[in-house]
Amino acid sequence: MIYLDNAATTFPKPPSVSNAVKDFMENCGGNPGRGGHELSRMAGDRVYACREALAELFNIGNPERIAFTKNATEALNTAINGIVGEGDEILISAMEHNSVLRPAVAKEQDGAVLKIIPADRDGRITPEAVEKMLTRRTKLVCIIHASNVTGTVNDISAINDVAHSLGALTLFDAAQTAGLLPIDAADFDMLAFAGHKGLYGPFGTGGLYVREGLSLRPLTYGGTGSVSESALMPDIFPDRLEAGTVNAAGIAGLLEGVKFVREQAPGERERDMAKKLAEKIGGISSVEIMGDNGVNVLGLRLRGVDCVDAAGRLDSEFGIASRGGLHCAPLAHRSMGTIGGGMLRLSTGAFTTEEDIDAAAKAIEAIVKG
Ligand SMILES: Cc1ncc(COP(=O)(O)O)c(C=O)c1O
Repeated sequence: MIYLDNAATTFPKPPSVSNAVKDFMENCGGNPGRGGHELSRMAGDRVYACREALAELFNIGNPERIAFTKNATEALNTAINGIVGEGDEILISAMEHNSVLRPAVAKEQDGAVLKIIPADRDGRITPEAVEKMLTRRTKLVCIIHASNVTGTVNDISAINDVAHSLGALTLFDAAQTAGLLPIDAADFDMLAFAGHKGLYGPFGTGGLYVREGLSLRPLTYGGTGSVSESALMPDIFPDRLEAGTVNAAGIAGLLEGVKFVREQAPGERERDMAKKLAEKIGGISSVEIMGDNGVNVLGLRLRGVDCVDAAGRLDSEFGIASRGGLHCAPLAHRSMGTIGGGMLRLSTGAFTTEEDIDAAAKAIEAIVKG
């Protein structure tokens, strides 16, 4: 199997990640923050070490402002639900994933005002496009860092400045970039990330950074192991957003994933392999590479071939894992003019080899030539 579906989740994970999960399960599986005994303390230490490693990676001063979630979707829902109320204006982009579109539309149904910022022909959201739609009533601007459909990267620092200039809060979706591109979140209001993609952590890991001084209505209410006498959720972070037991075994694995990323030049191999693949595929007539790929993702339009069928053939005839269709991002496909047939997406990982790239390019050529 040649795995080119790393944008869905990275595979394989570094052995250190699986080993850390196993070690946690066998040697330190107490409930973190829920007891003074040694196993609970050991578990709490691993969880905190992971918060620290992530804070360092994203240039966040206080690791306690990172709340763990089960994935990027939960982090994005927590942020959108926690900030946007009836009558508030929320701006999202035309490249957003359903994990932003759906909670934003749910907020619109509850009385918020939803506006969608258009993308340029590469699928990029420019600071100018954001500025055009921003008003003094805008409460939240939520923008994807890199598209999961085309790999186009947005200048989120510039967008952050534009949003702040009219007093709006910012939320950036780093599901496709955490661990693959440098991210400096120091001036952002919120950043959502997945643990199981470019950070090479296990399933069930992700998180939301919320800047100091900003409080959110929680998505989930319950025990936190702190302020137990109160019927209200604590104001302190991360407890406010972490009701119930966290996925400590997964987080122990994620810690090793973050270390793995930091030991390499983050994302360099993935980008390099994607670039080589683009060079090889770019020469095949009837294949169009969509957008402006700045991460590990290539979105392809195949003339005369259905993209879902092509992904099926890559799997069954060539043993290559890819993803065809709409990639949970119908807005993005509408923007790129591919809502009808979708695209074929190939996404590289830290373990992708030149041989994988050669085989994928040959297989695609064979499929489009019929
Ligand atoms: C851009 C983007 N945002 C959010 C998500 C949701 O991530 P998760 O699967 O961790 O919930 C994805 C998943 O592919 C994504 O690509």
